Amino acid sequence: MQAPEKNLAFELVRVTESAALSAARWLGKGNKEAGDGAAVDAMRLSFRSLSIRGKVISGEGAKDNAPMLFNGEEVGDGDGPDVDVAVDPVEGTSLLAYGRPNAISVVGVCSQGSMYNPGPSYYMQKLVVGHAARDVIDLDAPVHDNLTNIAKAIGKDVNDLVVFVLDKPRHEKLIQEIRAAGARIQLHTDGDVTGALMVADPRTDVDVMMGTGGTPEGVIAACAIKGVGGQMLCRLDPQSYVEKEAIEQAGVDIREILSVETMIRSDDAFFAATGISGGSLLGGVRYTGNGAVTHSLVIRAKTGTFRYIEAHHNWDRLMKFSAVQYD
Ligand code: FBP
Repeated sequence: MQAPEKNLAFELVRVTESAALSAARWLGKGNKEAGDGAAVDAMRLSFRSLSIRGKVISGEGAKDNAPMLFNGEEVGDGDGPDVDVAVDPVEGTSLLAYGRPNAISVVGVCSQGSMYNPGPSYYMQKLVVGHAARDVIDLDAPVHDNLTNIAKAIGKDVNDLVVFVLDKPRHEKLIQEIRAAGARIQLHTDGDVTGALMVADPRTDVDVMMGTGGTPEGVIAACAIKGVGGQMLCRLDPQSYVEKEAIEQAGVDIREILSVETMIRSDDAFFAATGISGGSLLGGVRYTGNGAVTHSLVIRAKTGTFRYIEAHHNWDRLMKFSAVQYD
């Protein structure tokens, strides 16, 4: 028997909480950039209190032209373990801007050198399932076969399955194929990290996530799915000639099939997410006048423990020393 090791996820959740507390001020205000900017500032400041020597492998990135929390940026107080970091201060910036459910703030961390670096890739194809179906999926198999095998593995009829799909024109054929297989569908305008988390969370109705979404979002989700023992198979899926060229020039293999084991190559991995706009996975930020309530999920891969944390923040005391922006 060993004494329990430190669980970094408990510290990470303060980072996602502060980003969510700042971002939620922009709920429904129609300003994606302001909401994202508030979250980035708060998250970046919060990272300073974390005893890690972190390097952002998957950050705000070129897609958003982000000046902060960019790929390669160093985060943490520089005193602690060397770790790779993936951040998405607001996952679902449009969801936040239009006051729709499921905008969340997320961070994933694993030991240095163990996080997949997607280079200049923006989009990847994803297939996510929970623990029971982790060994029966195949990214190259027809949709019908995957759904039949998943249903069998989790002991359901195909008609009972719920598949999370982003509602994008590129998924027209995929949606037809899922319907033809008999499964049910939840269509969401944005937020496929939440989609992957829904698959992992036994409290939601979602059994599978399929389709193409952001690559950085895929790397972060892999941290969580690895933690809960599910599976996520992915392959880069460039949506433009320019993206494809950039990936090839960077020497990244476009055809490689990635799994949670190849995207997060260490068991020393941690994940934290905090709800911003509220949805079936995590409640949103509720301001109470002299404080706020947040709802988070934290995961530690080594033990597979996941915890839901409801935090009650008190402005009077917090504002004296905290990074949280409140105006
Ligand atoms: P943002 O928070 O960067 O807006 O991402 C939202 C999102 O829906 C992700 O969840 C998803 O992976 C990606 O965008 C899909 O990209 P697109 O909207 O370009 O198809």
